[in-house]
Amino acid sequence: MRPARRTVRRRGASIARRAPRRMQRVRHAADVRRAVADLKRRGARVAFVPTMGAIHEGHVSLVARARAGGARVVASIFVNPLQFGPREDYRHYPRPVRRDRARLAAAGVDLLWEPPAGDLYPAGHRTRVRVTELGDALEGASRPGHFEGVATVVLQLLLVVMPDELWLGQKDAQQARIIERMVRDLGLTVRVRRGATVRAADGLALSSRNAYLDAAERRDATALARGLAAARAAMAGGERSAARVRAAVRRVWRRFPRVREDYVAVVDADTLAPLARIRGRVLVAVAARVGRARLIDNLEWRAR
Ligand code: PAJ
Repeated sequence: MRPARRTVRRRGASIARRAPRRMQRVRHAADVRRAVADLKRRGARVAFVPTMGAIHEGHVSLVARARAGGARVVASIFVNPLQFGPREDYRHYPRPVRRDRARLAAAGVDLLWEPPAGDLYPAGHRTRVRVTELGDALEGASRPGHFEGVATVVLQLLLVVMPDELWLGQKDAQQARIIERMVRDLGLTVRVRRGATVRAADGLALSSRNAYLDAAERRDATALARGLAAARAAMAGGERSAARVRAAVRRVWRRFPRVREDYVAVVDADTLAPLARIRGRVLVAVAARVGRARLIDNLEWRAR
């Protein structure tokens, strides 16, 4: 039986509203392929939202955006060992499995894929995907091998799901840029879409790693978004020196004793190459440690 479905027209836009239906849950690639083929046979467009779980409103917003465009949504939860460094938090990464499933089901995910690690990386797996240059800057410099792990897993997931759309968050702007480049370079037909960064009321970008913060650290963590706001104000006020924009961020950070800078960078939003002058589409990207959490945030800004 087809699920109940009605279309509401509002301000000219057509929003597909569906009655709640069960989220299908699968573990193995063959089951994903079967379920996606079934959706496509019925004429659906398929959107894919890959995640590492610890689902929050940032993830949910990507599902919502995909659904608003009328697509059926496949999500994955896989804490990808390949993208964690040896001294990083792979073992401690939060895995609230039941809550994650409930949140994704409530968000309207049609199919949830939870692959076992041995399925994606069977013994003897040796293939890695490296996006040169884009993967070496910023996060790549601080986390060697990180983006190789990301690109490898995302390509493997894409080759199973074969979605029409891939939804990624602006929160991880460099990751999105790298995956866009990989999709282009390899001639994949998927359309890569970005969802805006979802923030707490005080500006802190939602992140699974915010769970590591105690109350005092949580207060200081607002420094990242406050610093970016200062950068935006400087650029909007006509500042065109990248060094002075970076200084504006650091001036804010000095008021927050628990924030330890990893980097404050002003780069071209497409090439991720450092800029001396503010021009074109600019990405201000920041990373800092607050307590045992390592947090990142960014701001994209277009100079006229
Ligand atoms: P994860 O950190 O779980 O994020 C999954 C997706 O949610 C990514 O596209 C990320 O950019 C997006 N996201 C995270 N926080 C967000 C926020 N506050 N607002 C909007 N979107 C947000 O990113 C990964 O997992 C992994 O690297 C993955 C792509 C799944 C590959 O393993």
